[in-house]
Amino acid sequence: MDAEYGKARLRVEELRREIEEHDYRYYVFDDPVISDEEYDRLIRELERYEKLYPELITPFSPTQRVGGKPGQGFATVAHMAPMLSLANAFSNEELNDFDRRVRAAVSGEKVEYVVEPKIDGLAVSLRYTDGNFILGATRGDGEIGEDITNNLKTIKSIPLHLRCYAARLEVRGEVYMAKETFARLNNARSEAGEQLLANPRNAAAGSLRQLDPRVAAQRSLNIFIYGIGFIEDITIQSHTQALKFLKDAGFRVNPLIDVFDEISDVIAYCREWQGKRFALPYVIDGLVIKVNSLGQQERLGATMKSPRWAVAFKFPPEQAMTKVKKIIVRVGRTGVLTPTAVLEPVLLAGTRVTRATLHNEDLIKLKDIRIGDTVIAQKAGDVIPEVVEVIKEKRTGQEEIWRMPERCPVCGSQTVRPEGEAAVRCTSMACPAQSREGLIHFASRNAMDIIGLGPAIIDQLLEAKLINDPSGLYNLSYEDLISLERLGPKSARNLLDAINKSKENSLARFVFALGIRHVGEKAARILADHFGTLDNLMAAKEEEMTAIPEIGPKIAESIRDFFAVEQNRRIIDKLVRAGVNTFEKRKDQTGNKLLAGLTFVITGTLGGYTRQEAQEFIRERGGNVSSSVSRSTDFLVCGENPGSKYEKAFALGVKVLNEEQFKAMLGM
Ligand code: IVH
Repeated sequence: MDAEYGKARLRVEELRREIEEHDYRYYVFDDPVISDEEYDRLIRELERYEKLYPELITPFSPTQRVGGKPGQGFATVAHMAPMLSLANAFSNEELNDFDRRVRAAVSGEKVEYVVEPKIDGLAVSLRYTDGNFILGATRGDGEIGEDITNNLKTIKSIPLHLRCYAARLEVRGEVYMAKETFARLNNARSEAGEQLLANPRNAAAGSLRQLDPRVAAQRSLNIFIYGIGFIEDITIQSHTQALKFLKDAGFRVNPLIDVFDEISDVIAYCREWQGKRFALPYVIDGLVIKVNSLGQQERLGATMKSPRWAVAFKFPPEQAMTKVKKIIVRVGRTGVLTPTAVLEPVLLAGTRVTRATLHNEDLIKLKDIRIGDTVIAQKAGDVIPEVVEVIKEKRTGQEEIWRMPERCPVCGSQTVRPEGEAAVRCTSMACPAQSREGLIHFASRNAMDIIGLGPAIIDQLLEAKLINDPSGLYNLSYEDLISLERLGPKSARNLLDAINKSKENSLARFVFALGIRHVGEKAARILADHFGTLDNLMAAKEEEMTAIPEIGPKIAESIRDFFAVEQNRRIIDKLVRAGVNTFEKRKDQTGNKLLAGLTFVITGTLGGYTRQEAQEFIRERGGNVSSSVSRSTDFLVCGENPGSKYEKAFALGVKVLNEEQFKAMLGM
C-alpha cells in the first residue's frame, strides 16, 4: 500500500467523522457550527478522494446518501419485531376508559403517562448493526415491509453511524414532510402544470416510494424517532429512558414530550394542543399517550394490532360553516365523473378552502346537498375537504337540487352507471378528458417514464391536435415540438430522445401504461412475467389469467373488456408499429449485463437461497464471483454469521451488502 493511499485513507476517515458531526449539529440539533460554504468544502474534499480512490467508498460514507441507483421495485424485509399500530381515542371518555384499563391491569400501582405529538407521516423502521445504518424499511403489513434504505439515507437527520454502542438495534420513527416544504413542492408542481399532492403525508409517502433516490433527496423529508423496536445487550426501564438513549445515539427525537401521573392532566394537555397544533412546522393529527414503565408495558401486552399500553388521541377534524356556490363535475382517466362543490372560501385547519369533494351522486342525495345550501365543511388529517352536513334551517327555498349530467361535460357522450357501482362514467374512449388523463398516466414515471412530458406539454400537444392518443407521441417530429410554446430547442430534443427511449421499456411498464382499470403496477408486472408477450396477453382467456394466484376475476374481466374495444386495439397496433417493445425480457435470456465488470465475494449464510444459486445469479448478470476479499472486490455479500471476510472487507473499505440489498441489486 503506497504512502499516498495510506494518507488518503486517514484523511477520508477524518472527513467523514467531521461531516457526520456537522450533519448531526445541523439536522438533529438545528445548531450548525460552521458555514454552508465550509461544509461544502469538506464534502467536496471527500468526493475528490473518493473519486481518486473509489475503493475507499463504503455505503456509510456521507457522499453515499444519494448513492443508490434507481431500482425496479423494492425488496421486502422482515422486521425484527412486529410494527404495531395504535388504538384511537376520540373523546375524553375514551381516554378515561384507557386509563381505567391500564390501572386495572397494573393493580393499583403508580402509573406515569408520556405524551408526545403524533406526527402525520409514515412509520419506518431503521436497523443498525455494529453501529452502522444497514437497513430502512416501511411498515408494510407490520411483519414485512419494503426496503427503502437508499431513500431513507437521503434524510440527513438519520445517522449513518450511532454515537453510542449497540450491537443490534432497530428503531421506529415517523418520516414526514414539513408544511413549508410541502407548500413549496405544490407551488412548483402547480407551475409545471402537474397534479397537486393532497397533503404532506401523501407527499412524504410518494417521496419515500420514489424508485430514484435522487428524486427522494430533493423532497427534503425529515424524521422523528419515537421508539425502539429491538435492542440487544442494553437494559432500559422506561419509555423516557428509551427516548434519552435514542437522543444520545444521535437520533432526532421530538422535544415536545411531557409526563403526567393523572389522566385528567393528560386530557387537559391534549385539549391544549388541539388549538396550538397549527403553529407547529409539521402536521400532527393527535397525541400519543404511552405508559412510561416498560415493566408495566410488558404486563399490559398487546392485541393483534396494537399495544394495550398506548393510545392515540385523535384531534377532531376542523369544521367550518360555508356555502355551496355551485357543483362542478370532473372527468378522470377512467371516465368517472366526480362531483365537486365549489365553496365560498373559508379558513380550515390553517388553509383557505374553496372546494370539497362530493364523491358521487348517492352521497349528494343521501346528504341532500343543494346548490346554495349552507353546509358544514371539514378537513380531517389534512386530506381533501368534504361536506359533512347541510344546515337545513338556513334554507331559503332558493336552493337548487343538483343532478348528475346525463352527458359527459367534456365530450358530450352518453354517461352510464354500471350495475352495482356508485360511479357514473363517460362511455366514450375518445373523450378528451380521458385521453388527457390517459396520456398523463402513459407518460408518468412508473409507466413509460417519459421525462419532460408532463400535463402542461400534453395539454399543448392535444390543443395543437398533434396527438390524440399515446401512439401519436411516437410520430412527433422535432419541428412539431419546437412549434409548442415554452419548449426550447434543447428541451424539444431531450423530449424526443425520452420518447424514443421509452420504446425500449419492459412489457410490464407498457401494460401498466395502457391504464387498464384495476391493472396496477404489480398486476402488470405479474402479467408480463407470465405471458411474456403482449400478443399472448391479448389472446389470453379469462380462465388463463385467473389461474395466476394474484390475478382475480375483476382484473381478468377488465383486461378482456379493454382489449375487446376496437379503438384500444387500434391504438395498440399503432404503438407496436411505432416500435414500442411488447416482449418481456426474461431474466435468463436477457443479455442484461447488470453486473458486468463487478466482482463479488459471498460470506455467511444466505436465507433465501444457497450460495451456489447466489453465484449463478451474479454470473448470469455478467458479474464475477471470487472466493477471497481483496482491494479489487467490489462488493461483499454478507449473510448471517459472516466470517473474517467481513472484517477484511471493512478494513479495505469494500462495500458490504446485506441480503436485501443484494437482492435489490439483482433486481429480484
Ligand atoms: S408509537 C406500538 N409514537 O402513528 C406503538 N407512533 O397507528 C407504535 N406515529 O404507525 C407507535 N407519531 O406511524 C408512536 N410519537 C409517536 C408517533 C406514532 C406518529 C404513527 C406511527 C404509527 C401510527 C399509529
